Amino acid sequence: MAENKNVITVQDLHLYYGQLEALRGVSIDFRKNEITAVIGPSGCGKSSLLKTINRLNDLIPNVTVTGTVKLNDQDIYAPSMDAVELRKQVGMLFQQPNPFPFSIYDNVIYGLRISGEKNKQVLDEAVERSLQAAAIWDEVKDRLHENAMGLSGGQQQRICIARALATRPKVLLMDEPTSALDPISSSEIERTMLELKNDYSIVIVTRNMQQASRMSDRTAFFLQGELIEYGQTRDIFLQPQQKETEDYISGRFG
Ligand SMILES: Nc1ncnc2c1ncn2[C@@H]1O[C@H](COP(=O)(O)OP(=O)(O)OP(=O)(O)O)[C@@H](O)[C@H]1O
Ligand SMILES: [Mg+2]
Repeated sequence: MAENKNVITVQDLHLYYGQLEALRGVSIDFRKNEITAVIGPSGCGKSSLLKTINRLNDLIPNVTVTGTVKLNDQDIYAPSMDAVELRKQVGMLFQQPNPFPFSIYDNVIYGLRISGEKNKQVLDEAVERSLQAAAIWDEVKDRLHENAMGLSGGQQQRICIARALATRPKVLLMDEPTSALDPISSSEIERTMLELKNDYSIVIVTRNMQQASRMSDRTAFFLQGELIEYGQTRDIFLQPQQKETEDYISGRFG
């Protein structure tokens, strides 16, 4: 059997907030070990799509989801799928770094601790491995027991990446992960992402077109809840097939 190149498969996804249809029949696949950029104007459904993939919308009242979303071959909306387990496999990062107000160490092991891990050696190893992978180990290794809130924004965001990585996810969803950061912190996060790509699949929402074209393998352009165009990033940026895509990436709206 041929190996499945897709880590996430979305088919005919409709998402409603009450009466408002925020995603209108979206079908899209995200590939393993690639960075996929999701772009489009404000309100087109980018965050809604990401939240659907790790079922964060479960927490919002009046949300209706139809269609299928699969992680590898598992339907993430099947009754047998546990949302907490899903979120270990599909980590999420937000625009504002959101470390918990406790130590760096306790932030990183959060997911392992809630799943019952108590072995100190296992936890210590997970902390070092995750902070290394998030490219922040050298900066914090001597202050693991200091409060994470005392770090810079860029460092906090990398702590959040490490926290997501500690549970060995398959996918990292990043919703504008650098838009609240200064340019130096942003480039640290970008460098981290390029390293993570070897081991993880990343979906990043960004409104920075340079970032999308510099970082991603594929780009998906959304407009008003619909996927307008999806393909290799260089094709989307150099020879878009749809006029709306061309207008958006050349800055004519959005
Ligand atoms: N919790 C909610 N309740 C009701 N409507 C919502 C909710 N979240 C989003 N929406 C609506 O769904 C649509 C898509 O919103 P979404 O946040 O997914 O867009 P976006 O592409 O991420 O926009 P932005 O670039 O501004 O972050 C918008 O019309 C928005 O107002
Ligand atoms: Mg958004």
